Amino acid sequence: MAVRQLFPTFVYEAPLQKAGAADLNRRLLRECEQLRVDDVAGQRWSKTNYPGGFTSYGSQCRMQTISPTFAALEKKLGRHVAAYVKALELDMSGRELVMTDCWVNIMPRHVAHGLHLHPTSTISGTYYVRTPRGCASIKFEDPRLDRFMAAPPRRADCRPENRPWTTIPAEAGKVVLFESWLRHEVPANPVAQERVSISFNYNWF
Ligand code: NI
Repeated sequence: MAVRQLFPTFVYEAPLQKAGAADLNRRLLRECEQLRVDDVAGQRWSKTNYPGGFTSYGSQCRMQTISPTFAALEKKLGRHVAAYVKALELDMSGRELVMTDCWVNIMPRHVAHGLHLHPTSTISGTYYVRTPRGCASIKFEDPRLDRFMAAPPRRADCRPENRPWTTIPAEAGKVVLFESWLRHEVPANPVAQERVSISFNYNWF
């Protein structure tokens, strides 16, 4: 008898680097906070699309091209993206994965980012800059959820891979990568201190 696991969904997580994350995060945090002050178009966009928080998704969404600190982050992400591509066994011969977008998210208390995908991208991810204790986690949804029809719920103590959703705790210095079609959200941030992250997309050409 065999019970095969077919069609798995892979989500990657790792520390960005072995040491020095605190220093990098200090510089990134300073730039994220400065951007919130300077980026008037982003403030306007956030008011409608990210109420209570700040995101540069609709304004400064190619931070890797305008800030050397973000460019350094892009460089460090390279080996993680390569490791994830290897785990996914994507055939990248003659193709190149390139970071197309990179933007800032600042979440004060009660700010949420509802369920979404990253359309027109291949691999997406987040790097955590500042994660106060107890701040919101990223939550991934089983991509087959709309096909479950009459399936009974899973047992409360079921294995993580059988759950209809999974959360990965946000930890400063950590990288999370996922395929861009995987639906996810960040529930309302329950703590008073701001949660700061940098999100990005890769596409292949
Ligand atoms: Ni997202």
